[in-house]
Amino acid sequence: MTNKYTVTAALPYANGPIHLGHVAGVYLPADTFVRYLRMNDADVLFVCGSDEHGAAITLRAKKEAVTPKAIVDKYHQLIGNAFADFGIEFDVYDRTTSDLHHETSSNFFKELNRKKRFVQKSSEQYYDEEFNQFLADRYITGTCPKCQSPDAYGDQCEKCGSDLSPTDLIDPRSTLSGKLPVLRKTSHWFLPMDEHEEWLKEWITQGRLDGVQQHDPKAWRNQVTGQCMSWIDGGLKPRAMTRDLDWGVKVPLPDGEGKVLYVWLDAPIGYISATKKWAKENGRNWEDYWLKEKAQDRRLVHFIGKDNIVFHAIIFPILLKDHGGYILPDNVPASEFLNLEGDKFSTSRNWAVWLHEYLEAYSDKTDELRYVLTSIAPESKDAEFTWKDYQARVNSELADVFGNFVNRTVVLTNKYYNGIVPAQGTRTDQDKAIIAQVCDTVARIGDLITKYKLREAQAEMMRIARIGNKYLADNEPWKLVKTDENRVEAIMSVALEITRQLSIACMPFLPKTSKKLQGFLNINCEKWNDLRANSELAVGLKINKAEILFKKIEDEFVELEVQKLKEKSQQTSKFPPMKELIDFETFQKMDLRMGKILSAEKVKKADKLLQLSVDTGIDTRTVVSGIAQHYAPEDVVGKTVLVLLNLAPRKIRGVESQGMILMAENEEGELSFLETEKEFLQGQSVS
Ligand code: MF3
Ligand code: ZN
Repeated sequence: MTNKYTVTAALPYANGPIHLGHVAGVYLPADTFVRYLRMNDADVLFVCGSDEHGAAITLRAKKEAVTPKAIVDKYHQLIGNAFADFGIEFDVYDRTTSDLHHETSSNFFKELNRKKRFVQKSSEQYYDEEFNQFLADRYITGTCPKCQSPDAYGDQCEKCGSDLSPTDLIDPRSTLSGKLPVLRKTSHWFLPMDEHEEWLKEWITQGRLDGVQQHDPKAWRNQVTGQCMSWIDGGLKPRAMTRDLDWGVKVPLPDGEGKVLYVWLDAPIGYISATKKWAKENGRNWEDYWLKEKAQDRRLVHFIGKDNIVFHAIIFPILLKDHGGYILPDNVPASEFLNLEGDKFSTSRNWAVWLHEYLEAYSDKTDELRYVLTSIAPESKDAEFTWKDYQARVNSELADVFGNFVNRTVVLTNKYYNGIVPAQGTRTDQDKAIIAQVCDTVARIGDLITKYKLREAQAEMMRIARIGNKYLADNEPWKLVKTDENRVEAIMSVALEITRQLSIACMPFLPKTSKKLQGFLNINCEKWNDLRANSELAVGLKINKAEILFKKIEDEFVELEVQKLKEKSQQTSKFPPMKELIDFETFQKMDLRMGKILSAEKVKKADKLLQLSVDTGIDTRTVVSGIAQHYAPEDVVGKTVLVLLNLAPRKIRGVESQGMILMAENEEGELSFLETEKEFLQGQSVS
């Protein structure tokens, strides 16, 4: 079996922090897998970085009214730090705005163009006349033609997962202006994906490429193969690989003016650029990690979420094969989604536990989080994170089983033998059977990890602690110690061996705990091979005192976290997000002035409305205002108020309203006039 791996974790968009759903689905499983490989002396390179192009970034910049560069700088830092603090150990964390990446992806594109792998086509694309911009991907929304969800994007419907193009959308709208877009001609480089169906089918379902066996197709997750085949069977369509945007990698061709590479072309090439950066800094050759000639016995593995399947299992492989010379992925372990307290994670509703916030609050509980997220890893179906479940797993599994077993063993060894590892004595058949059982479990862990079944693998790791716990409970050395010292020595030596095995087997899952535990045992074993049965703790070795490995989680902790979540999401809904930016000219179109209310009366049969007569300085006009529940007519007469004059007149309950009084409103719906600090005359304009 080959022991060489290039492992990638999906490059997160640098447009917001990452949450526990991302961690559970992509980064934690990748890190656990890589830690296991490293323990086996594998030659492994683990790459990740920020995905800094595409509409995800530019739209966010627009929303925060800053430049795209400011957005990616901010989140590249924030996400990178969170990963480091959490202990995700990438060999390199690169970014797609780097010069090296621009050069690499640009050359990649040129090579594909030189080989005539694109079809340059002119077609009609949606265009926003107000913003003078073509609308692709997330710049356009509309109703999904497949599932009728009203907010599908131009490239994908997040509801049903369909892969779309803007012209498929029913009732398309620009996300910039909210308006109906028009069609305009533009020219793009298309990848004729339809021409690749045959080899993709054979490669995905049989693992064969050009008649040569590449990977074991049964090792791919069902949902990955299934999703790929449903796309292929539905017929692949040519897909544009360029965009009319100014943020991204410039199209490196004479007629590519004003165009950039499609983000899903440039981003996966980011894995290659990251490798180049790492190789440069570490005196290696990047080609050993990617090129067929030098890496034919190396496995390329992409850890991703399920919304990334088409890009990693279809589009990127087409690009790699078309370019030529590259290895294709050996596996694409994609995860399903994680939900949070009964609802989807949502950035816009602020329904999320952000990794960096968790770490700010609980920097001492990284292994607890790793354990819980691997226990519920959405490997084959959607899963759910709740704080109650977090508490239950930490308390009844980590603390009561793992922690309890380790603590008993270390404490008793200190108590009975002053911390000196006793001789094995005579082991009974039951003792030997227990050790054999632990060794079998260890072997299963390794096997499951290489099959990307990390959830089950971790459960097996926990089984070692359970075996140990039960062994002590069954044999009760604390009772025997008064009557049978020899037997107690044998029991403790078995318990110590199980503890030693546990300290190694837990390393990929619980790295900090493993270190602490090995500290108690006064050993330093970082190789999976140290799990061999014949490398028990040396008799006579002095071990250290135990400390509590896992503190119990109190009910208040759970209540606080659930409360925090609710508050955060309510705040978001209390203060709606900022509306689209408008330009100064648009603002200037509003004619705002001070006006004076001359008279007021209730509008008949409408308990909310007052009919006001307002002196605007240039005229006296009627304004109908929805303030009757807050003000009696006599309260408002004589007030100087802010009026919008040039709002198109509207008939309200039969009365024509010729403007609008501006009021402040709080979350309880209470209203207040906006009054001026000094006395102002009606007609005075507002700026
Ligand atoms: N930024 C993408 C996402 O968050 C993932 C990009 S993976 C890459 O969905 F391969 F394209 F880099
Ligand atoms: Zn849909």
